[in-house]
Amino acid sequence: MPGLPDTTLLTDITRAIGQASSGLVAMTETVALLKARLPHYTWAGIYLLEGDELVLGPYLGKPSPHTRIPLGRGICGAAATERVTIVVDDVNSDPRYLACSIETRSEIVVPIIVAEGPGADSGRVLGELDIDSDRPAAFGQDDRDLLEAVAAALAPKLI
Ligand code: SME
Repeated sequence: MPGLPDTTLLTDITRAIGQASSGLVAMTETVALLKARLPHYTWAGIYLLEGDELVLGPYLGKPSPHTRIPLGRGICGAAATERVTIVVDDVNSDPRYLACSIETRSEIVVPIIVAEGPGADSGRVLGELDIDSDRPAAFGQDDRDLLEAVAAALAPKLI
């Protein structure tokens, strides 16, 4: 039904992550489910933070020239540095944007952060989910809610 979050998809992704034998498998299955089930997700990928660079992990869509992004660059770098979800309705009007494909019109980037708690990794940024769409302003509250829940489910698997 339009306007309702796809809770079935979240359930399926959470189950796949729980059953995955490794973080790499969990990321690969997450990207596959997102790309297969949400037609407005033209490109779906995960970057992992290594030192002060974001390194491209599993993705589906056209190959990106941005396989390593310094923290200070791009919408990806901004989301990881500011530790918040960033939604860009029109990538061509955002000066931070690093172009991956000429067809891309909008983007959402969701940091993957270890939940606050007593552990040494509490609050650490591990990486991020990055989704591009060929549609302008493709991402709404449902996408934000879904992807933030997916990021929270992925984090324990990536520590
Ligand atoms: N657009 C991103 C770069 C990654 S590609 O979209 C895959 C950015 O501005 O950081």
